[in-house]
Amino acid sequence: LSEQELNEQHHLMIGGVDSLALAKEYQTPLYVYDTGEIRQAIADFKRVFEANHVAYQISYASKAFATVAMYQLIAQAGIHCDVVSGGELYTAQRAGFPMAKVSFHGNNKSEEELMMALDAGVGCIMVDNFYELDLLTRLSAARQQVVTIMLRIAPGISAHTHEYISTGQEDSKFGFGLNSGQADQAVRQAQAAKYLNLVGIHCHIGSQIFELHGFEMIVDKLVSVFARWQNELGFYPQIMNVGGGFGVKYTAEDQPLAPTDFVDSIIKETIAQTKAHHVPMLEIWIEPGRSLVATAGTTLYTLGASKEVPGIRKYLAVDGGMGDNIRPALYDAKYEAVLAKDPTLPAQQVASIAGKYCESGDMLIWNQSLPATQPGDVLAVLDTGAYGYSMASNYNRNPRPAVVFCEDGQSHLVVKRETYADLTRLDVALPVAEKTPL
Ligand code: LLP
Repeated sequence: LSEQELNEQHHLMIGGVDSLALAKEYQTPLYVYDTGEIRQAIADFKRVFEANHVAYQISYASKAFATVAMYQLIAQAGIHCDVVSGGELYTAQRAGFPMAKVSFHGNNKSEEELMMALDAGVGCIMVDNFYELDLLTRLSAARQQVVTIMLRIAPGISAHTHEYISTGQEDSKFGFGLNSGQADQAVRQAQAAKYLNLVGIHCHIGSQIFELHGFEMIVDKLVSVFARWQNELGFYPQIMNVGGGFGVKYTAEDQPLAPTDFVDSIIKETIAQTKAHHVPMLEIWIEPGRSLVATAGTTLYTLGASKEVPGIRKYLAVDGGMGDNIRPALYDAKYEAVLAKDPTLPAQQVASIAGKYCESGDMLIWNQSLPATQPGDVLAVLDTGAYGYSMASNYNRNPRPAVVFCEDGQSHLVVKRETYADLTRLDVALPVAEKTPL
């Protein structure tokens, strides 16, 4: 639970802006980001690499939170980003993000998406499977365009995490299997393709990882495979991309290492392993998503109805829910909330925070200690910056909330609140036939 910044009246402050003033100005539900915290998290990653004097790249996994303003912020920070769809690529383009710093991921990129990426001149395509390798071989040759690629491999290692967000195991839809020999075959094929420039190997072992062990295993395994490839295939990658997945603290129970500790150990393990195998040091790329944005985000809601189930539970309902944060319903994810008008007030109740969606599973938090509350109070759910807005939906035809960036006491609206008109904008009415009883 990140430390809260309060003003003299004890109001929760975000990036130097009073959260109650934000709720008043922009209405609720509202996603608020302390962008200074995002810049700080990026600077922290950079510092670890620089302290270790290694070649590196930080590529923000923009699936965690993508808007035009966010791509601009990432561009200002001077780091790379990765996209996983034509839509993310389009948003990055609209933001003027330098295309040479974009990597394109995905296990089923369409021909149209690949063409879009080649037209845009993205820096790197992360090739996931043989279908895509063939497609890209054909497209690059037809266009006589050199395309820089990395191969994504399934290393046969998965980190201890929720099964839906764990991706490193061999039985996964992602990547060329290492243990089955697919990865070797893919390297041979990529090397044989005249217009493909294979620069690196990528793997991603999961998300919200709390232990170093998985990353150390991955480095050990990769470096030994690279050493074998150098002998057997005459190929040694310039870049080892270890993906993202660094865990963050959502509740007091979570005790993750600092994201920078993961990176420090990845670097040191890579130095040790390359020395042990007598192979060249690798350029290390990481793809943090959650660890750059999760704790920088807060969702502000207004409390409305409440319900007491005598002797069992008290429900407090907010004006949002699973449409703006699907993670509790989908992954059983935990969050903590505070009362924005004064997070220091003593707890007087234990309440479960319900959303407004027509589904019993629409619960944001179970058993949250809170001070006395009344309808109209602003509730701040903390650390919602990753995979909240980016996984938001219009379920029950609720408009999606606005997004505001705050820094140095200033707020900027970066995504407008959807209107009811937005909800029907793409709907096409049936032609009204006479026999239709409307
Ligand atoms: N790189 C690749 C190839 C990925 O697939 C992912 C996340 C990342 C990087 C960034 O991982 P992070 O640092 O954010 O853990 N919707 C889920 C998370 C899905 C993650 C998918 N891949 C959630 O809300 O927890």
